[in-house]
Amino acid sequence: MALKITVIGTGYLGATHAAAMAELGFEVLGLDVVPEKIEMLKRGEVPMYEPGLEELLRKHVAGIEGSSGRLRFTMDWAEVGEFGDVHFVCVNTPQKHGEYACDMSYVDAAFESLAPHLHGPALVVGKSTVPVGSADRLAARLAELAPAGEDAELAWNPEFLREGFAVNDTLHPDRIVVGVRSERAEKLLREVYATPVTAGSPFVLTDFPTAELVKTSANSFLATKISFINAMAEVCEAADGDVVKLAEAIGHDERIGKKFLRAGIGFGGGCLPKDIRAFMARAGELGADQALTFLREIDSINMRQRGQMVELAREALGGGSFLGKRVAVLGAAFKPDSDDVRDSPALNVAGQIHLQGGQVTVYDPKGMANARRLFPTLAYADSATEAVRGADVVLHLTEWREFRELDPAVLGEAVTTRLILDGRNALDPEVWRRAGWTYRAMGRPTA
Ligand code: UDX
Repeated sequence: MALKITVIGTGYLGATHAAAMAELGFEVLGLDVVPEKIEMLKRGEVPMYEPGLEELLRKHVAGIEGSSGRLRFTMDWAEVGEFGDVHFVCVNTPQKHGEYACDMSYVDAAFESLAPHLHGPALVVGKSTVPVGSADRLAARLAELAPAGEDAELAWNPEFLREGFAVNDTLHPDRIVVGVRSERAEKLLREVYATPVTAGSPFVLTDFPTAELVKTSANSFLATKISFINAMAEVCEAADGDVVKLAEAIGHDERIGKKFLRAGIGFGGGCLPKDIRAFMARAGELGADQALTFLREIDSINMRQRGQMVELAREALGGGSFLGKRVAVLGAAFKPDSDDVRDSPALNVAGQIHLQGGQVTVYDPKGMANARRLFPTLAYADSATEAVRGADVVLHLTEWREFRELDPAVLGEAVTTRLILDGRNALDPEVWRRAGWTYRAMGRPTA
């Protein structure tokens, strides 16, 4: 009989995982503690913008016409405990308020709520990003709380999906990492992932701590690549170099590679910033803090980019104060194809200029509602053309395709001054200059 799967936590990770598991042919029951989320999901609606996710949900959510009916949602822990052979824990692990460390309260609460309902054999699989050592601790807690005792087992299976590509990354992962302690756990997870493994996804078997570390070290490496190229951008600024050419040239070396070398206002979002901080905090607890002090520098290079964008804008406006200046900001999400504004560099820059007296108007294709909630005092426009109306300078801060496809000639009619600053090195300088714009990007003073 096909395995029955539950997914606990239905955010970016959980909602996508639940839909993907249904797509792979399993019966799936998703649980969340937020009633509004569950109500939306039951109607086949997604609480956030993620390309392809709503279609996939609607294909499987029970009660929707034409669906497979394999995917249901509940708020009832007993039902979840009863239903599942494999339980995926996908709740979030934000940064603790006022500390670098990771807030484990949602993960802990999920285990405390689920375990008492595990009366028979079950595999609980942690997917949340957690400090190394958590799986060991949670396995002990599970054994303590579950009526099934040793028949309720733990595995750790980190998730590497990127927002904007979540569906594809989940259905066709570039690797599947599982930390297990028994052959039974390995066998169950091989069954869950049989389809992607047959299609070529490598299946990497590890112990608990290594599985946890794979996730935090992968994110640290990505953050390091971005901050590395941003550090080179700073040097290019000082030396009249061109960081885009530099990245292209070093990227031809296969050992370095081209990806994740786009200089600009840096990384944000719900993962990289908090994950590298939690990693440093955890290494400190383990007495290995020296090993990760470099991440402190990665973090500060990254945060510095935001300030440098503000200074670039000030300089472009003549060097004085922002008072009375009209600044158009294209982009609010932390990256394109997402409505996520958590720790968004774009909104951070917009907020700083606003606080210094600039009249900032923001437009983003999908992130407007979230941005308004987070920064209600900024002005918002319904289109790029509206946002730039009367602007003294235009800041391109999230590299949506829509912005690359803008017609600089048309936009030029709306602005006061044809001055664009590219905080993502994603626009074509030639196209803008031909339409009479002054184009300036980070790390390319002469390009
Ligand atoms: C990241 C990891 O990529 C993913 O594997 C993990 O599961 C979760 O964290 P995500 O947060 O969706 O995914 O974003 P990602 O695509 O990694 O981008 C992170 C940030 O880096 C964005 O703000 C992006 O704009 C920025 N970035 C990315 C750069 O500034 N330059 C680059 O070259 C690449």
